[in-house]
Amino acid sequence: MTTTAFSAGSLQTSGLQTIGVLGAGTMGHGIAQVFAQSGLTVQLVDNQQAQLDTAVKAVDRSLAKFVEKGKLASDQHTASLARLHTNTDIEVFAGCDLVVEAITENEAVKIDLFRKLDALCPAETLFASNTSAISLTRMAAATSRPDRFMGMHFMNPVPLMQLVELIRALQTSDATFNAIKTLSEQLGKTPIEVRDAPGFVSNRILMPMINEAIFTLYEGVAEAEAIDSVMTLGMNHPMGPLKLADMIGLDTCLFIMKVLYDGFKDPKYRPCPLLVQMVDAGYTGRKSGRGFYNYD
Ligand code: NAI
Repeated sequence: MTTTAFSAGSLQTSGLQTIGVLGAGTMGHGIAQVFAQSGLTVQLVDNQQAQLDTAVKAVDRSLAKFVEKGKLASDQHTASLARLHTNTDIEVFAGCDLVVEAITENEAVKIDLFRKLDALCPAETLFASNTSAISLTRMAAATSRPDRFMGMHFMNPVPLMQLVELIRALQTSDATFNAIKTLSEQLGKTPIEVRDAPGFVSNRILMPMINEAIFTLYEGVAEAEAIDSVMTLGMNHPMGPLKLADMIGLDTCLFIMKVLYDGFKDPKYRPCPLLVQMVDAGYTGRKSGRGFYNYD
């Protein structure tokens, strides 16, 4: 992990100062943390107050770990938290230079919110979506600023992962892309440019592997632990695919598989029936306390 709080001043800056983050779940709180940690003012919004409360506690814990490991000065812990503001009302985004959306992976809900944000925010505000797989081109087209819209796809857990996949919608301008690329570098991340296509690069490759691991379990080829061990011990993956699916959230995995299936119209992307059943049962992984493993 590159800690950016000390180095931001020596880098080229994007000029984006106040960042809105919409959605305070698994990804949103991590995204809010990395912005606040690199000296930017953050407005974190969620329609569930409980999610905001949990998010602030998670950010506090994560910053404390960086201090413990000597990767962050303790005054930076306090200062980062002070830069993080929470709200249940999207009106606060009217004062933001960039809004990064990280709500549930559902295209209709995301488009509805982007229309609202478009009416609320000044014309120069940039919009980015952290979507895992949904078309940025379609979301951009729902706004009056398609040239100022693109994908900014962080990896989980955001404070630790180096990559940000930057996805150009068909309409994204070079000025928008360059500002978000510079901002990603300011965060200490490595941005990689990709074009808009279902699942982009990351989830087009990762999710079918996870889905295949679930099929392997479904067909009784091996137990969950055994499947994960084959991939960690045999392929040197840091985490087995079923444990990773639990960490991502099984609902999110299912949404992504559906986007791949609908987008390519290819049966090889059919979501495993066990994944569908787990989500129907509310076993969405770590965040619900139960997935392929149990979490107390
Ligand atoms: P999550 O389910 O943990 O959090 C979603 C949050 O959005 C919740 O706090 C919920 O209350 C909030 N929300 C839903 N509708 C809302 C609305 N209308 N207004 C305000 N807040 C609303 O989901 P997660 O995992 O954080 O995913 C968010 C986005 O990030 C999705 O697009 C997902 O595909 C993407 N993503 C997820 C990754 C993961 O590992 N979970 C990795 C990379 C991207």
